Amino acid sequence: MRQDLFALLQQHGQLHLLDYYNKLDDAGKAAMEDQISMIDWNYLRTVENHTAPERGVITPLTETVSTADIREREVEYREKGLAAIRAGKVGAMLLAGGMGTRLGCSGPKGVVDIGLTHPLFIFECLFRNTLEVVREAGAWIPFSIMTSDKNHQETITFLKEHNYFGYNEEYIYFFRQDMAPCIDYEHRLLMEGPGQLAISPNGNGGWYSSFARAGLAEKAKAMGVEWLNCFAVDNVLQRICDPLFVGAVICSGCVSGSKVVRKADPKEKVGVLCLEDGRPSIVEYYELTDEMAYAKNEKGEYSYTFGVILNYLFRVDKLDEIANTSLPMHIVEKKIPYMDVDGTMHHPAAPNGYKFETLILDMVHMMDNCLAYEVIREHEFAPIKNATGVDSMESARALLEKNGIRL
Ligand code: UTP
Repeated sequence: MRQDLFALLQQHGQLHLLDYYNKLDDAGKAAMEDQISMIDWNYLRTVENHTAPERGVITPLTETVSTADIREREVEYREKGLAAIRAGKVGAMLLAGGMGTRLGCSGPKGVVDIGLTHPLFIFECLFRNTLEVVREAGAWIPFSIMTSDKNHQETITFLKEHNYFGYNEEYIYFFRQDMAPCIDYEHRLLMEGPGQLAISPNGNGGWYSSFARAGLAEKAKAMGVEWLNCFAVDNVLQRICDPLFVGAVICSGCVSGSKVVRKADPKEKVGVLCLEDGRPSIVEYYELTDEMAYAKNEKGEYSYTFGVILNYLFRVDKLDEIANTSLPMHIVEKKIPYMDVDGTMHHPAAPNGYKFETLILDMVHMMDNCLAYEVIREHEFAPIKNATGVDSMESARALLEKNGIRL
């Protein structure tokens, strides 16, 4: 092995990789050297020095619009939102770089067919929903799709084969997110094949920097895009670039907005939008004390009641302002398939190591404010996360049918 790479492995306690390296032919050795030379060692430093970030003072949100408020100002919001869309000021940002491990995906989650009597792909649901707005506005919405090395080509091929489900190809932009190494509990880098280090997409928090690095942020701005609506791949009911949401955020004067649903009960396990030291922030359910979970405001409503559904609107100039601020790194325990030194692949049934992720929800805290925009869960929230049970294909199908979608 090259001397400089050997020294790096030694310095970072990764000499176990030599056992794998020594079994490879010359081409395999060269490929593995290439990968070792590209490792971002900052990830390993993060895990060594990691301490849980301290929370500031949590208080209830002040900028909210409930479904009742929305009904009252519906016409105004719709007009404002449609005008922004027609003027080309709003872009869609699909975060589709995840691995869908809970669902057991081998490729992109969007290609999963959830139809019963005819094919209905997850991507198809998202494009259909966006096309409704395109028709209402009479204008195409630039639609960006973040993929990762693990699913980029398959995503592009699938969408091309399906003619983008009727969307105008000229308005679709693909870009890739960054990858991060995977490690075991002893902080040793894992291998996922001969000469192949185990790597994984580095979370959905880096989307704007990857978008910018691909030259697309500049392009979007040159086209006049002022707002980006970011959303997850797996919520098949969500409204994308919803004119009412866009209009409400613009009317509020806020620099960002988040679609939220009222929690089903005070202890429901969802992240809640609130204020932390006066700035918007998402607090995980386990960080809320009972006292906070049951606290009520002067209207008699729960104070911490708005759960996020990963559908955010950000003002692009604010994204630029925070572009160079680093997001907190989350070190997440996951089931990571790996190859042992004898070449046998293992698919663990329980978590066996760590992945590194930055999260879009941490971007919300970097915004000066964020409008919580309430939507009705049964109409807009049908995520497909798990193979069965809660937030699964079955639960999403039931919700789609309830909303009149033929499966
Ligand atoms: P999830 O947190 O549900 O992760 O992502 P996931 O990777 O899809 O699924 P699991 O945890 O492996 O089962 C929420 C959204 O963020 C995207 C996903 O594609 C999904 O739309 N995402 C997640 C990325 O774009 N990149 C990532 O690195 C992680």
